[in-house]
Amino acid sequence: MGIDLGTANTLVYISGKGIVLQEPSVVAIDRETKTPLAVGEDAKKMLGRTPGNVVALRPLRDGVIADFDTAELMLKHFIRRVNEGNSLVRPRIVIGIPSGVTGVERRAVMDAAIQAGASDVRLIDEPVAAALGAGLPVSEPTGNMIIDIGGGTTEVAVLSLQGIVLSESVRVAGDELNEAIVQYLKKIHNLAIGERTAEDIKIQLGSAYPTEEDDDTMDVRGMHLLSGLPRTVSIKSAEIRESMSEPLSVIVEAVKRTLERTPPELAADIVDRGIVLAGGGALLKGLDTLIGHETGIVTHIAADPLSCVVLGTGRVLENFKQLERVFSGRSRAV
Ligand SMILES: Nc1ncnc2c1ncn2[C@@H]1O[C@H](COP(=O)(O)OP(=O)(O)OP(=O)(O)O)[C@@H](O)[C@H]1O
Ligand SMILES: [Mg+2]
Repeated sequence: MGIDLGTANTLVYISGKGIVLQEPSVVAIDRETKTPLAVGEDAKKMLGRTPGNVVALRPLRDGVIADFDTAELMLKHFIRRVNEGNSLVRPRIVIGIPSGVTGVERRAVMDAAIQAGASDVRLIDEPVAAALGAGLPVSEPTGNMIIDIGGGTTEVAVLSLQGIVLSESVRVAGDELNEAIVQYLKKIHNLAIGERTAEDIKIQLGSAYPTEEDDDTMDVRGMHLLSGLPRTVSIKSAEIRESMSEPLSVIVEAVKRTLERTPPELAADIVDRGIVLAGGGALLKGLDTLIGHETGIVTHIAADPLSCVVLGTGRVLENFKQLERVFSGRSRAV
């Protein structure tokens, strides 16, 4: 079983079957009894909408486990679901982790997977998994650049011969874009909106580079901070891009810094082959154009950016011998 335990979404791949689960990484818990009320999509609908006795939690922040007990509970729930309730099956699990994590953070992921029922856990660096899932020729002695823009982290990596030659991870990705939209509406329009509404605005109206739809507008409902009453405000696409410019420039700078540090032979390969974008953030309109423009290198979006990491773990499961070198660190068995 391969798992992409992401800040925004968790995906599960079963060897021979493909992707069997794709759910938001959210858990709703009853505060008093501490029991989970909903996990995944149902829990995400409750974000920002729970009564006093219920909390909807996102157990991961910035690509790593922030709330261990909830992360374990969520993993257990998902593993049980894909095993169709058969809790006697203890799967071997390959799980993606961001390349920049600390030893403590790695151990937390391993422990959570073991507590959730894994018999053996192997970790793989997410950029390697994303590149495998995007179909890049990771095993060849050629330089490939992959940028994985998730909810919590953006990882920029140059790969060759199944390994990371160099990488940079910044804790700025989709969540920060949402947050920038929340702050902008508060400051300029005196409108308070939640995280979910901000994400809807980003997906429907947001862009990273001027497009033909710059004059498009969207009616956004929120709480007017001056009157304290609900209000609808019309927002333009161009102003949403402007509001996200700061986090977007952090991402672009990370890409440029990585390119500057890339050895010349590999840099030449990247110029030839282009840069590949993965992760849900790759779907932001015009982000490929922005990165292409800023670096001067053709930039492509992977075929299914949200699934790249989990598809990569699947490729490893199905080609264990050929790809054994991709694992990051030692395995842990129980
Ligand atoms: N069409 C879209 N346009 C812009 N952003 C999008 C789109 N679809 C999804 N996203 C964003 O992609 C992010 C989720 O991507 P993904 O599932 O790859 O993250 P993750 O793997 O859970 O996070 P991480 O890798 O940081 O732990 C969210 O911030 C979401 O808002
Ligand atoms: Mg991810």
